[in-house]
Amino acid sequence: MSDAPNLLNDDHTASMATALMMSHHGFRRDLARFHSALEAVAGGEVSRIEALREEWKSLYQTLHGHHHSEDAGVFPSLQAEHASVRAVIEQLSADHRRIDPILDRGEAAFARLPDAKPALAIVRELEGLLDAHLAIEEREIIPLLRGAKSFPAPPSEEMAVMYAQGFAWAMQGIAPDVLRQVEQMLPETLVARLPEARAAFDARCERVWGSAAAGAARTPIPTT
Ligand SMILES: [Fe+2]
Ligand SMILES: [Fe+2]
Repeated sequence: MSDAPNLLNDDHTASMATALMMSHHGFRRDLARFHSALEAVAGGEVSRIEALREEWKSLYQTLHGHHHSEDAGVFPSLQAEHASVRAVIEQLSADHRRIDPILDRGEAAFARLPDAKPALAIVRELEGLLDAHLAIEEREIIPLLRGAKSFPAPPSEEMAVMYAQGFAWAMQGIAPDVLRQVEQMLPETLVARLPEARAAFDARCERVWGSAAAGAARTPIPTT
């Protein structure tokens, strides 16, 4: 993974490439956390089972949302500009259709906790598929998004809250100077909501994982 791209552009500014890769970082970070939490359940730590089930639903929604925004937004507009990426985009969309049913099976597996074996098998399967998928996106798609620097203003108060929650999730574990650049790209109404949303997300991590400690990544690969 040492060839993972930098979150920031070469001129140290953020772009839509940064935002997309921060989500990739979040998926890798959360799957690693699920992996160790489930190993702890297998070892007899059963006090957070309900919180883990809830968090799985949340991962499910976030990953679905990420796939939808790629399939319905990012990919069609790239395909219109760069005919050469058509084949890789077809492959990536097919990956999305393979990955989403695994999330569904995950819900049934998490219902069987404290028997952690089925849920661990799902997390391992998802880690394997996502590793390959995210690496292809980062190699083929990310370079084409470096020039995109305008983030749409939230169309309503409700959407502003949702965007802020999404960014709070994606920002945890990212290096502070990268986050400062990201905030410069975001609309003021969204930036204003981030401190509260980030504090709420830290509290959620305390509940689910027992800690909100995170790294300071400069690439889409978590540093802890
Ligand atoms: Fe994708
Ligand atoms: Fe992606």
